Amino acid sequence: MSQIPLKTEEQIAGIRRSSRLAAETLKFTAGLLNPGVSTLMLNDAAHEFIVSHHATPAPLGYNGYPKSICTSVNNIVCHGIPSANQILRNGDIINIDITTVLDSYYGDVSATYPVGEVSEKASKLISRTRQALELAIKELSPGKYLNACVGQTIEKYLAPFNYGIVRLLGGHGVGLRFHEEPFVYHFDTHQDDVLLQPGMIFTIEPMVNSSPNWDVVIDKKDGWTVRTVDGALSCQFEHTVLITPTGHEILTKLD
Ligand code: MF3
Ligand code: CO
Ligand code: CO
Repeated sequence: MSQIPLKTEEQIAGIRRSSRLAAETLKFTAGLLNPGVSTLMLNDAAHEFIVSHHATPAPLGYNGYPKSICTSVNNIVCHGIPSANQILRNGDIINIDITTVLDSYYGDVSATYPVGEVSEKASKLISRTRQALELAIKELSPGKYLNACVGQTIEKYLAPFNYGIVRLLGGHGVGLRFHEEPFVYHFDTHQDDVLLQPGMIFTIEPMVNSSPNWDVVIDKKDGWTVRTVDGALSCQFEHTVLITPTGHEILTKLD
């Protein structure tokens, strides 16, 4: 059992504001999606939106990451680097991942969107991955174990579909830094790991491949882009969540 730092009321208020800005940035950026748009154009628009709200994009310069957001298209699992050469086409799916720093507090959110008309296979992968995240979040309340709420729920719900749940990457504590403890597994680890307590803040961000293979490869040249090994599609949704005395609050949800 690991010791996870609990946030104070003041920290929670700050992380709530940053998370809300991240969600607003995601909504704004997703509104620009269209065939013919480059992922660099999405990056630049998101960057301007964030700085105009007196915040900074956490990815820029993080461990040398070169851009302000991540844009992960089709077989890219996560950490796709926006580029002028990458033009979205009808039928693509794209995950946009936004992390803001506002008054030194972090909020982290992502979602996957269809570009134009996508295949039924792609649209089912999107709706089921979103549903997996939502079901996991619904389980969260103090006194329960993290793996029982997240890993077990996601694995059980997705089991009939023969998808691959990515194992190398997971969710994470967030708020005072970009990545904090705990590591959040999206598959069943069969461990009573973290006992949830009010004041814990972390992300849940399942990455789900359209083939049963959960293995991934990291691009050797850029050191960031994570792809499925077999070229299968991959999809991801992410929220930042707070454990409250009575249950949970989704900090990156717009009402
Ligand atoms: N936002 C990603 C996450 O959900 C992390 C991106 S790290 C970066 O944890 F450097 F690629 F931006
Ligand atoms: Co995250
Ligand atoms: Co993220």
